[in-house]
Amino acid sequence: MEKKLTSVEIGNKRKEYLLPSTMTYYRNPVTIVKGEMQYVYDDKGKKYIDAFSAVVTISVGHCHPEVLDRAIAQMKELQHMTTLYYHPKIVQYAEKMAKVANNANPDLKVSFFTNSGSEATELAALLAKNYTGTHEFVALRHSFHGRTLMAMTLTGQSLWRHSLPYVFGVHHIPAGYTYRKPEQMTDDQFVDYCARELEEVIKYQTCGKIAALIAEPIQGFGGVICPPPNYFKRIYDVVKKYGGLFISDEVQTGFGRTGDKFFGIEHWGVKPDIITMAKGIGNGIPLGGIITTSEIAKSMTGKVHFNTYGGNPVSMAQGEAVLDVIEKYKYAENARVVGQEIVNGMKKLMEKYSVIGEVRGKGLMLGVELVKNPETKEPAPQLTLDIMEEAKNEGVLLGKGAMAGNVIRIKPPLCTTIEDAKTIVSVFEIALKRAM
Ligand SMILES: Cc1ncc(COP(=O)(O)O)c(C=O)c1O
Repeated sequence: MEKKLTSVEIGNKRKEYLLPSTMTYYRNPVTIVKGEMQYVYDDKGKKYIDAFSAVVTISVGHCHPEVLDRAIAQMKELQHMTTLYYHPKIVQYAEKMAKVANNANPDLKVSFFTNSGSEATELAALLAKNYTGTHEFVALRHSFHGRTLMAMTLTGQSLWRHSLPYVFGVHHIPAGYTYRKPEQMTDDQFVDYCARELEEVIKYQTCGKIAALIAEPIQGFGGVICPPPNYFKRIYDVVKKYGGLFISDEVQTGFGRTGDKFFGIEHWGVKPDIITMAKGIGNGIPLGGIITTSEIAKSMTGKVHFNTYGGNPVSMAQGEAVLDVIEKYKYAENARVVGQEIVNGMKKLMEKYSVIGEVRGKGLMLGVELVKNPETKEPAPQLTLDIMEEAKNEGVLLGKGAMAGNVIRIKPPLCTTIEDAKTIVSVFEIALKRAM
């Protein structure tokens, strides 16, 4: 039998054999060896609620039995075949994807599958360039779109950028971060300002036309920044005025996570031209992709675009099973109900503890911004780390985000129950009290 490595041995081997940029959470990192729906277990058998879904990737639950069965059945039959040959799974899945994307935009019909969100970002940008014949882009500050060169250039946080010759022609505008908007502005005035900024950037910093604007409907790594309801409508109108496409990065917000809606952008009443997907789409299998309109897709005619594992039969089988169980168990509705329970609990805590600056988000995509003082709003990153540590000791794994590292991210799998929600809130309070 294979010898089990201790956490210390794993840590030492990580230092020796993995790039030093590979980071971990916690003063004493946890070794997770087993997953079961919304729960994970460490190497000592301790059970945790995975309230961060392994970085927002487990959508329908760790090792969801119905999803596993279908992936394993496919694995036993044919593990890999590329799109150079016909296989039924990829077309079945693409057809289903067009159906679920219908509410976001009935014209979204044509997919391409990748292994990751970064590749999906690259492809979306390529499509936008090919279709519009122009190469300039606008993205939002606080955004995250991946780690390849174009994706890193589009990302609006220095934390996630290295010193590189970035791709030319990418500009950033303010995100709809109302908690940190200039104090004298109302939300509506702030949205006006953001839309004006976009127009000014296009008019003064580009050739006057853009290929696309890319945005996450609710920013994930940026700290669960949830814009005011009219933010995207205003931004979208400016993008269209200057001939650009609107790309919705649904890597975190897709697949029911934001509650009720399949894609996050559906909350904001604008019709994306391209959607990028990853993480929750595969529930733990390397699967990403884009969906776009037939007209935009035509811009790839006569050009070869190939991805060795993109559309692989096992990832297609798993992806299809994920779509089916989201529908079967009404997980998007569950995300709304359970998410609301967490929000209600956190808002009660906010009345008791002034370090909770804001509770925000939708469905099971929630953030709690922690500040040293509610007046100055000075971020509290150490408190954030201490809460995470204490919550882990109490059996709840939380995530964090924002440039300052002061936003707790609560994004458990969509199968999380009301009981779990209550545990998350009570553990949060225990952790907060100890951390203070
Ligand atoms: C919003 C968003 N876009 C893109 C990516 C990149 O995805 P991946 O890590 O699969 O390349 C991520 C996650 O890392 C993300 O959160």
